[in-house]
Amino acid sequence: MGKLNVVNHPLITHKLSIMRNKKTGSKDFRELLSEISMLMGYEVTRDLPLENIVIETPITKMNAKMLSGKKITIVPILRAGLGMADGFQRLIPTANVGHIGMYRDHESHEPIEYYSKMPDKVCDRKIIVVDPMLATGGSACDAISLLKEKYRCTDIILVNIVAAPEGVEKVQSEHPDVDIFVAALDERLNEHAYIVPGLGDAGDRIFGTK
Ligand code: PRP
Ligand code: URA
Repeated sequence: MGKLNVVNHPLITHKLSIMRNKKTGSKDFRELLSEISMLMGYEVTRDLPLENIVIETPITKMNAKMLSGKKITIVPILRAGLGMADGFQRLIPTANVGHIGMYRDHESHEPIEYYSKMPDKVCDRKIIVVDPMLATGGSACDAISLLKEKYRCTDIILVNIVAAPEGVEKVQSEHPDVDIFVAALDERLNEHAYIVPGLGDAGDRIFGTK
């Protein structure tokens, strides 16, 4: 089963509390989401492999360490995932970006895919799927299935800001090879499949559409 990592850091907790507050406007919401994403990126990349190389400082030669291993592709699930992509890109500037467009049907809450575009040879890369909300888990599971089936990706992790236990269980059962990183594991879903207490509709709050 994929490991659930709840990234516990006072800065993340504080910034997330401001995001949750319904009085927080779109500009602050977007900035905080980007900042939290960067802080989470630090934890998500903790185990990246390093290799030894010889460099010359202005003083002498030395054995230094640089990142090695697979290159990284960040995959935001549109729309709300876009709000996390720039934080990750600032931390890992060599990462490229693939996009998956998905929205939940308002009645059934089932995800509907409307777009996908990945970089060349994405199957050789480590994939970081980003989306602020993991509610029923339908969108994340379908996005991961698409990456595996259409793009032949095999090395995938999922990063969310707020998750419901239902979503975590679904991803762990359908994609046991995928580790999950979240900033907060909330209580439950309500009758509209929104996370409680959550932060409302992430896409609408990022883009000011409601
Ligand atoms: C939100 C969110 C996730 C999805 C989570 O997107 O960004 O993609 O819901 O819900 P789930 O776990 O139940 O699938 P939404 O469908 O609101 O689309 P949007 O980002 O375009 O607003
Ligand atoms: N999508 C959101 O944006 N928020 C939720 O609480 C659930 C799904």
